[in-house]
Formats: sequence, C-alpha cells, structure tokens
Amino acid sequence: MCAEKSLYAKATEWLDEDWERMEKTLGDRVQAFAGKRVLVTGAAGFLGFGFLHFLAYLNRSALKATPLSFIAADNFIRGCPRWLVELAAGTPRMRLIRQDITKPWPDDETERFDFIIHGASIASPQVYRKYPLETLDTNISGLRHMLDLARQHQSTSILYFSSSEIYGDPPAHEIPTRESYRGNVACIGPRACYDESKRLGETLCYLYAQQYGVPSKIVRPFNNYGPGLRMADGRVLPDFCRDVLADRDIVLHSDGSPTRTFCYVSDALTGYLLALLSTHHAEPFNVGSEAPEISMRDLGSMLLAVAGSKRQVMHKPSAEADYLTDNPNRRCPNLEKSRTMLGYQPLVGLQAGLGRMLHWYRHFVELENLVEAPQGK
Ligand SMILES: NC(=O)c1ccc[n+]([C@@H]2O[C@H](COP(=O)([O-])OP(=O)(O)OC[C@H]3O[C@@H](n4cnc5c(N)ncnc54)[C@H](O)[C@@H]3O)[C@@H](O)[C@H]2O)c1
Repeated sequence: MCAEKSLYAKATEWLDEDWERMEKTLGDRVQAFAGKRVLVTGAAGFLGFGFLHFLAYLNRSALKATPLSFIAADNFIRGCPRWLVELAAGTPRMRLIRQDITKPWPDDETERFDFIIHGASIASPQVYRKYPLETLDTNISGLRHMLDLARQHQSTSILYFSSSEIYGDPPAHEIPTRESYRGNVACIGPRACYDESKRLGETLCYLYAQQYGVPSKIVRPFNNYGPGLRMADGRVLPDFCRDVLADRDIVLHSDGSPTRTFCYVSDALTGYLLALLSTHHAEPFNVGSEAPEISMRDLGSMLLAVAGSKRQVMHKPSAEADYLTDNPNRRCPNLEKSRTMLGYQPLVGLQAGLGRMLHWYRHFVELENLVEAPQGK
C-alpha cells in the first residue's frame, strides 16, 4: 500500500508547473549551471523560495546528469519557514546555513561559488519601517560582503536586486519608466532607508565592476507576486488574499487610486536569471510586467472575481501613521531594454497568476509556518 504524500510533496508537485515553464523559456542557458556551485542569500524569503525550488527542480530535470550544488543562507530575521527546512532535508546537493550578511563571510565556509544570487534584504515596507538601520546595513555593508566574496572567488556572476522603488514617484511623462530615468526619491522619510540604500547598492555594483572587474548584474524588480510570498508579509496582494480567504471584504488602506503592475514569480525569476547569465555587467534592467497597470481598487475587485467571492472592496485608513507617506502614485516599467538585451518577456497573465497565488494559500499556507532554524556558528 502506498503511503500518503506529505503536504510538502504535494506542494512540490504542484509548483513544478512554474519551474517547467521557466526551464522551457531559459532553454540551453540553464546548462551554464551544470556542475556549478551557487549561493542564494535571502533564502527564507519570497524570491529565495522561487530560486531554491527552481535549482532543485533543475537537478531533477535538465541537470540530472551534471547537477549543481547550492547553499541557502539567511539570518532568519523573520523566522525560518517549514518549506525551507523540508526542501533542504529532501534535496541532496543543498545546504542551509544561518548567516547574517552584515557580518563577513565565515572563514570556515571555504566553498567557492560560481554564481551568487544575492536576495537578502528587508523588502517588506512594514518590516523596513520597523528595522530601518538594519535595512540600510544589509543593503550596503551586506552587499559589500557579497561583492567581496564574488571578487575573492572570481565568481562567474553575482546578481544584485535593486528595486523599482529607486525611481520614487516619477512624473507622468516618465511612466512607463525606463532605466535611464534617474528617480524622484526622498532621502529623508519612512521609505528612505530602503530606497536610498538600494540606489547606493547599484553604485557599489558599478564600482566593483569598474575597479575590480566583478561581474555584477543589476535588476530592478517591479512588484512580484505568487506562491512563496508569505501571507503575513504585509505587501498588498498577500493582505488582499488573506481577506478573500477569510471570506470578508477586502480592506484598502489608500483611497484605491494608486496603480501598479504585477509580475508573476516564474516570469520575474526568468528575467533575473537572464540577467545573471548575461554579460551585461553593472547594467540595470527593469524586470516586471508592463500591463495591466491596475489601481488597487480594481486589483481587489479582480481578486474577488478570480476567487468567485461576492464580497466587496472597502476603505479603512491604516493604523500605521506612515503607511502612505511617499507612497508612489503610479508604478509601471518600460521593458524595452530587458526585452532587447536579455530576451525577457513575461508570460503569465494577472488573473492566472492570482489564481495560482490563491491556490497556494488555500492548500499550502501551513508550509509558511515558522520552525526552528539552523543555528549559527
Ligand atoms: N519581491 C519583490 O517584488 C521585490 C521588489 C523589489 C525589490 N525586491 C528585492 O529582491 C530581493 C528579494 O526580495 P524578497 O521579496 O524575496 O524579500 P523577502 O523579504 O521575502 O526576503 C528577504 C530575505 O532576506 C533575509 N535577510 C534580511 N536581512 C538579512 C541579513 N542581514 N542577512 C541574511 N539574510 C537577511 C530575510 O530574513 C528574508 O528571508 C530583495 O533584495 C528585495 O529588496 C523584491
């Protein structure tokens, strides 16, 4: 008699659809990882979830004969999710370590990395408002440690996640926003710790490429979403999904008019890997979706329709005084550069992506529960 599959095994099977799509889009390019060593920082986060699952998937598919090995590092500032421990336990060439990247890389971690996917940061506005100095330190001294590591290891490539936030609140004629737009950002205020340190991060990548020849790659993500983005993250879509799944009205903390575009996780990860595997050093690329540019009110309505819910979208100001301070009114990328130089093209429509995100929360949210993390050295 067959034993019943565990929740995590069912989730892995269900997620494979996303990784298959990515593998197909990336094609032979994934062979660059054959037999290589990869470091993923920010492993317990949303993009860490996607990258680690995709790398594990490659070892079961295209790289079965020549698997890669990977280290997943995080300081677990927001705890260690159950999926991460289960993934590490069931993945032969994966190792999970606790490492605060604001500290130098440990001397006894001598493994050389061919690739560094550096996702560690404090990315949720709710969290960076609470830890502004830690956010700044991680984005600056943490990044510097990673660039030093790439230099020391003569890595093939290191990927830095900047942010669409570095554009601040662009004027109407700069939307959709190109990489050449220099930004309209407040250096003082509740978002400054994140926005300004992300900007300086790009400068660091540029200087390490110029001064030391470090092959740094820069991406500017625009609102990614999908399975793996914690329901308790404090970003808009998980908040909306939580309302929908609790069968109550969706609560908007703004008047509902600010607009965004949303990029499904498999599309975003494909864009990031295209940048990592490219030869465009210290060259920023927008990664996101160009359409639909949707208001928060319409996004709420769309999610309700996808869920088949009769509930409504209602407005209630946030209890957090700074919630809307310096919140950009519109955000939408121009993807021409990523399309022409990287061959990037998002594939998953918003309704389909929202459906998958809701499915994840409905069936697999327990995998986000926090468990004991590996101890530090
Ligand atoms: N997801 C998006 O839509 C988006 C948008 C813009 C930029 N980004 C950037 O992409 C990267 C990944 O984003 P995400 O959505 O996965 O964020 P996330 O918040 O889900 O995950 C980040 C992870 O980094 C870890 N971390 C924080 N400080 C650390 C430190 N000092 N040492 C080690 N680990 C540390 C956290 O514990 C967390 O697990 C971040 O740099 C973020 O700023 C993401």
